[in-house]
Amino acid sequence: MHSSLAAMKEAAKPIPLRPGERRRLRNFLCLDDFEEGARKHLPRPVFGYISAAAEMRRSQQANRAAFNEYEFVPRILHDVSQRSAATSLFGVGYAAPIGLAPLGLSALSAYRGDMAMARAATAMSVPMIMSGSSLIPLEQVAKECPAAWFQAYLPGDRDSIAALVDRVARAGFDTMVLTVDTQVPPNSENTVRSGFSAPLRPSVRLAWEGLTHPRWLLGTFLKTLWRHGMPHFENNYATRGAPILSASVLRDFSDRGHLDWSHFADIRKQWKGRLVMKGILSARDARLARDAGADGVIVSNHGGRQLDGAIAPLRALPTIVAACPDIPVMLDGGVRRGTDVLTALALGARMVFVGRPFGYAAAVGGEAGVRHAIHLLISEVTRNMAMLGITRLDELEVGMNVVRNAGHGVARSAGQM
Ligand SMILES: Cc1cc2nc3c(=O)[nH]c(=O)nc-3n(C[C@H](O)[C@H](O)[C@H](O)COP(=O)(O)O)c2cc1C
Repeated sequence: MHSSLAAMKEAAKPIPLRPGERRRLRNFLCLDDFEEGARKHLPRPVFGYISAAAEMRRSQQANRAAFNEYEFVPRILHDVSQRSAATSLFGVGYAAPIGLAPLGLSALSAYRGDMAMARAATAMSVPMIMSGSSLIPLEQVAKECPAAWFQAYLPGDRDSIAALVDRVARAGFDTMVLTVDTQVPPNSENTVRSGFSAPLRPSVRLAWEGLTHPRWLLGTFLKTLWRHGMPHFENNYATRGAPILSASVLRDFSDRGHLDWSHFADIRKQWKGRLVMKGILSARDARLARDAGADGVIVSNHGGRQLDGAIAPLRALPTIVAACPDIPVMLDGGVRRGTDVLTALALGARMVFVGRPFGYAAAVGGEAGVRHAIHLLISEVTRNMAMLGITRLDELEVGMNVVRNAGHGVARSAGQM
């Protein structure tokens, strides 16, 4: 895991912000600060799309609450002056076990949003997953940032699936992530309340939202129209989809309800690169994925945006890691602090991905905003490692330096003493 530690430590160094960027970002001191910034910066429907969770937000809240079930037992007077959050996954070295989760429609909230995130991830040496519901052709992101991973939403029929997989391979991606928790579109109740739809429908209300958020209107929406034309859903299929703004066009949500493991088997046969499944929440499904040829799984409930009440990924993680010790198990959902990263790693995650905060950071600060957000999170990880008394991430151990707290009724191991 730590073969070329020196090289990885080098990669972890923050890319300095330019003076103007530093001034603009000086009040963003932790990931949650970007949410407030984005709330002010974005039109209500666009902010509403990013912040949305399904129905009662039970899963979204559980994702956070699960981290509070753990506490740390620091070790003192142990030399921590030489420490590193560097890690490696699938043979690639990264500055930290922190990645950018796929976020649809990023180019609506930030100018060239996917590109900003991919560039920031490349600069900071962390993985980035480009969303299949993106508004920039996947070929452009692959060309600019060859290390990015591509996340696919599967079309409903085998021919369309094969054509999409072929397109992703031709673009040069080496890792494809299949998101499998969207059998049907989620209940849109909360996004409808904020005025969001996909495509957006022109209306007086939408125009007013644009006019009252002039930095977004000029710096993102009109700049995009001027330089690149009307954004379309580019990557759900092998061919271009609906525009993002239209009075009449319907987006083609082809039915995915019938997809099963036979479709996965076809993809595994066709796709020669690494294949990761995202949206797994049980040991049984993780084992099926591994046995069907998945190279890794991401334990995720889609940030609480699909089935409300779906188990928090952190709570599902230990049994999935135990069931699949031979493939990397990753996690997303509710990760906001360095302490969350350390907790997930102690429970066996090899990489954690962060969704909404990087979307907000791209909206308020573009590539520099995302770099700054990644830097803040890595700094929290390495600072907390020192206070915890460890120099390497593989020293994290449940029952030793990370324990379930007393409120959750699990006896503490004697190892902590
Ligand atoms: C605005 C937004 C768009 C998303 N779009 C996608 C997507 O296109 N594909 C996907 O697999 N997951 C998507 N997700 C889910 C994220 O990849 C991730 O699972 C989730 O955001 C993690 O939770 P967090 O936001 O609490 O970090 C989206 C999430 C958000 C907030």
